[in-house]
Amino acid sequence: MAETSLFCQINTSATGPAETAKKHVPVITVSGVIKVGQPFVVTIKVGEAPHVMESGHFIQFMDLYSGHIYISRVDITAELNKPEVTLTVVLPHEGKRTLRAFSRCNLHGIWEGTKEINVTQ
Ligand SMILES: [Fe+2]
Repeated sequence: MAETSLFCQINTSATGPAETAKKHVPVITVSGVIKVGQPFVVTIKVGEAPHVMESGHFIQFMDLYSGHIYISRVDITAELNKPEVTLTVVLPHEGKRTLRAFSRCNLHGIWEGTKEINVTQ
């Protein structure tokens, strides 16, 4: 049974029930040093503990933002995907940024995970 209040907010590890958060908060991994204008690889995995991908309960999409700037959305399907994506990203400005990933579970709503990065010259 869905916890309806989860659909009325963006859930995080701080706001959601701990056991539910563990399976839903996207975990962002970044490889290497991030340089202005140079491609780097971002992996988003839902979540810290595996989430099922059954026809009645699955992750529907993952979004990636830099702060409030949209970067990517990946739609995925039950049975045929694992809730993990790898993206190649280019950021054009130096400075500290917060990468924000969102995942949506059809039964447990939208969850946000973040990672602080530093884009250098
Ligand atoms: Fe779920």
